[in-house]
Amino acid sequence: MNNSIVVEARDLTVRFDGVVALDAVNLKLQKNELRCLIGPNGAGKSTFFKCLAGMQIPTSGEMIVKGEPTTGFDPYRIARLGIGIKTQVPSVMNGLSVKENIWLAARRTNPTKRANKIVSDILDRLNLGDLASLEVSTLAHGQRQIVELGIVLAGDPWLVLLDEPAAGLTGDEVERMISVIKEINDYATLIVVEHDMHFIRRIAKMVTVFHRGRVLIEEDVDTVLSDPVVRDVYLGKRQ
Ligand SMILES: Nc1ncnc2c1ncn2[C@@H]1O[C@H](COP(=O)(O)OP(=O)(O)O)[C@@H](O)[C@H]1O
Ligand SMILES: [Mg+2]
Repeated sequence: MNNSIVVEARDLTVRFDGVVALDAVNLKLQKNELRCLIGPNGAGKSTFFKCLAGMQIPTSGEMIVKGEPTTGFDPYRIARLGIGIKTQVPSVMNGLSVKENIWLAARRTNPTKRANKIVSDILDRLNLGDLASLEVSTLAHGQRQIVELGIVLAGDPWLVLLDEPAAGLTGDEVERMISVIKEINDYATLIVVEHDMHFIRRIAKMVTVFHRGRVLIEEDVDTVLSDPVVRDVYLGKRQ
């Protein structure tokens, strides 16, 4: 096996009653890639993420991380492998401040002193210093997205999964998200699921397009975005 391949899905299949959410997906990811997953609603993108993060057990097929099968691992065990996921649904703890949320995540795997250092670094990097003591439920949607990213980074992951990180962000917040994603990619591998084509154009290199639970095309961003089949799929012309 090629050492630089850090994630490999082999014939990954997920069925929910009558729905085939993933249909024998094969996908390989190289170390330090920034891979974008795109595709219309219901294509299977989030289900793929959930399989990789241990939040969904596949019906059949395998997920291999750094050469080891992780199929069936629970989310806790996956997190301990150094994989961090920001899901589509926010998972911040209301009632706690921004700083407390990030601190709890850092403390899970670090002694107190080191956790404190990690938190102040993350608050700096994400430009969250002014919001540190605010309760997360009082924040705007975009600010909460950034806090969630902080919670993911607090676990010091080598693989970061972001499900629709730009959804609902303002223009300025999108710019910040783009620069943070690029900065994370200096030291970590990323998979980003995103709907917004402008966002994809700004960050993407290799893009995998999902459609109806299958990989439709996997190419560099320019090839993918100029492909008429991809455009049809997005506009709903091709079922
Ligand atoms: N827990 C679930 N139970 C039943 N069907 C599901 C569940 N999760 C996803 N699905 C279905 O699987 C398909 C793929 O969903 P999803 O992976 O969320 O797509 P995407 O993230 O690309 O929009 C959809 O048809 C969706 O309705
Ligand atoms: Mg989704």
